[in-house]
Amino acid sequence: MRLVLLGPPGCGKGTQAAVLRDRFGIPHLSTGAMLRSAVEADTEIGRRAASIMSRGALVPDEVVQGIVALRLSLEDCARGYILDGFPRTVAQANALQQMLARAGQALDRVVEFTISEDELVRRITGRYVCTNCDAVYNEHSKPTQRKNICDVCGGSSFRRREDDRVDTVAERMAAYREETAPLVPYYEDKGLLTQIDGSQATAKVTAELLGTLA
Ligand code: AP5
Ligand code: MG
Repeated sequence: MRLVLLGPPGCGKGTQAAVLRDRFGIPHLSTGAMLRSAVEADTEIGRRAASIMSRGALVPDEVVQGIVALRLSLEDCARGYILDGFPRTVAQANALQQMLARAGQALDRVVEFTISEDELVRRITGRYVCTNCDAVYNEHSKPTQRKNICDVCGGSSFRRREDDRVDTVAERMAAYREETAPLVPYYEDKGLLTQIDGSQATAKVTAELLGTLA
């Protein structure tokens, strides 16, 4: 299965992609996570992306396309994958189309999670991440089961994402509206798009998502 998860910052792409990864045993490819790793490792791409990401803008298409093309060529993508946060511009969608065509493949589905801006801000500003294993939590909707102990790895150190500040969130949303939202009609025209109400509880969103993919 080759799937794209689309939607504004904080709509639940990463949360749902992790569920699908575990369920179907295919990789979860988050371009945001790949770029954050590059920033952390202080690679050339990371140095180029760091300031762009921390102000909430999009990293140039050719940089992200290069990372994705390399990642899709790896063995573990042969049975399919879940793309989270890519494509994010029409140019990236066209590039993905070409990558797939070269491999004789096609996307199975594009799912957009719809949600109000107020809820997005609440989710993003409530998010925290385990420093050790990157498990994602939320002050409002998904705190750790034991106070300050990661449910997954037992770690006790947590961090906020550099771009999860209220001022940066506004920039990320503007980037979404201007550059990514045109992908909705783009994939609708191709008959690939399904929209799911992302403001529902996580389990309800998962149930609808699995229903769409059945
Ligand atoms: P990226 O990492 O992709 O961030 P994003 O798109 O802004 O999305 P988020 O990761 O913030 O949200 P999410 O939808 O994954 O939500 P989550 O499941 O975590 O990109 C970051 C940056 O990298 C970009 O700004 C850009 O600079 C760069 N970049 C990345 N890809 C790029 C590309 N293709 N081109 C150019 N630049 C690129 O959920 C959010 C919170 O809500 C969590 O705390 C979670 O626990 C909680 N939550 C989730 N679902 C629910 C629910 N149903 N109910 C209640 N709470 C929920
Ligand atoms: Mg994410």
